[in-house]
Amino acid sequence: MLRAPLPDLDRDAGVSLAAQIAAHYAEAIRGGQMRPGDRLPPIRDVARACDVTRTTVQQAYRELATRGLVEGTVGRGTSVVGQGKHATRRGGKAKAASTETPGAASRTLSSYAEAALRRSQEMPGPPRLDEGRELVANFAELAPDGERFPVDEWRAAMDAVLKERGSELLGYGNATNGLPELRTMLAERMRDIDPRATADDVLVTAGAQQALDLVLRTFCAPGDAVIVTSPSYHQMHGLLRAHGLQVLQVPFGADGLDGEKLANALRRDNVRLLYLMPTFHNPTGRSLDLAQRRALVETVRDTSVPIVEDEYQHSLRFRGKALPTLRSLDPRGLTVTVATVSKELFPALRIGWLHAAPDLLRPMAAVKRFMDLETSPLLQAALVEFVRRGGLDRHLDALRDELHRRHDALQRAVREHLPEECTVTAPDGGFVAWLELPGAGQGDRLAELARERGVRVVPGRVFDLNARPSRGVRLSLTRADHRRIDAGLRILGQCAREIVRAPAPAIPFV
Ligand SMILES: Cc1ncc(COP(=O)(O)O)c(C=O)c1O
Repeated sequence: MLRAPLPDLDRDAGVSLAAQIAAHYAEAIRGGQMRPGDRLPPIRDVARACDVTRTTVQQAYRELATRGLVEGTVGRGTSVVGQGKHATRRGGKAKAASTETPGAASRTLSSYAEAALRRSQEMPGPPRLDEGRELVANFAELAPDGERFPVDEWRAAMDAVLKERGSELLGYGNATNGLPELRTMLAERMRDIDPRATADDVLVTAGAQQALDLVLRTFCAPGDAVIVTSPSYHQMHGLLRAHGLQVLQVPFGADGLDGEKLANALRRDNVRLLYLMPTFHNPTGRSLDLAQRRALVETVRDTSVPIVEDEYQHSLRFRGKALPTLRSLDPRGLTVTVATVSKELFPALRIGWLHAAPDLLRPMAAVKRFMDLETSPLLQAALVEFVRRGGLDRHLDALRDELHRRHDALQRAVREHLPEECTVTAPDGGFVAWLELPGAGQGDRLAELARERGVRVVPGRVFDLNARPSRGVRLSLTRADHRRIDAGLRILGQCAREIVRAPAPAIPFV
């Protein structure tokens, strides 16, 4: 029998506890962590562990049975019978032709491949406008705007390195950890947030995404648990599920990370990692201040649970003092910092990196070696040349100024157009902010209404592990100048007023 992990309930989510329990097991079944024949834990065990009544758990199990996922047998408890009507199954019928794995191929897939396939098919994309609908504002895209890319300067840097070292750079570089000159440069550029960063601590990766994958491969095995914030970066959810990991969510709100829930989650024996974005968090734009960073490190201090901090936008600060990485505050030496050039420059370079103590870096470098041998030496060398010529600093200065203007325009538009029941974060950097309405599910409703009126935002449920209804939406400012921001917020304000003043909608079961 496979593991039947216990659900982690969020009592502030505005979603019934029975619905959360049902969603948890439905996800485990669809994600392949529980297979036909596996038994759900006895009702009394779930009731005790989650501090709910047996009736609540019975209600959840009944809902799973109605959806064709489980079956109760007298004396044997409740067992998984299938993956429901909407899942892709081995040899079974898929949700749509495009999500189906061809029959013979489906029998050859590893559980990792099956989970990755399923998660990537289920991954919600940003909402699209209906054909013919004029775009008023696009707050959905987090990828930087191609119109702003310094393409000619990049071409000049590429040309220079090809001319000088072409025959060398088009071969294997044999530098698994990354080109030494790039690692030195990256360590120097991190010193404002990590004063002791050195080239020896740097491993160059194919974007931050590969760095996150490497961390999971290095520290976790299927069935282990990873703590993440709620909400959190949605592609990480997919990655965690593909690795067969249990995910524990800890709320991350206006007061930072919920310390009590974090301490409780850390008490579970199978916890192997804590993942978070301390600076300009995706999707809320919130940052932990210095006291919150210190408190977090204090909470993990007596454990051996590594932290992976995703500093994907640290260089996009336009206001305030740079805050130290958790790595520089963690006396255990068990924090890994992940960073990338995707947001500060171009995502297509697929260059990211991680900083970690040599004892952690060595196994991660070994794991990476068997994944891709090395990250492109040509692109690494061109990046070094581009930075030496001042291209990155010029680009970043202009980008930070523009981001400052856009965030100021957003706050003005919020004051002017949004009803007082709404709140919006005011980050000191990065591309994103988070708009929240007072009621559960109202963020998702706002995203849909706004889409019908030409404004694209990402509904908060995308950033929840189980796609639970959310109060919030993510606003990204990569594609909206101050005019678009004002026009977009005017419409968001109208929609928000309609939603907030309408009678409360029924909350869907899951
Ligand atoms: C929080 C976070 N981490 C990592 C990534 C992946 O970045 P990369 O393009 O460097 O792989 C993203 C991309 O949007 C992100 O939002």
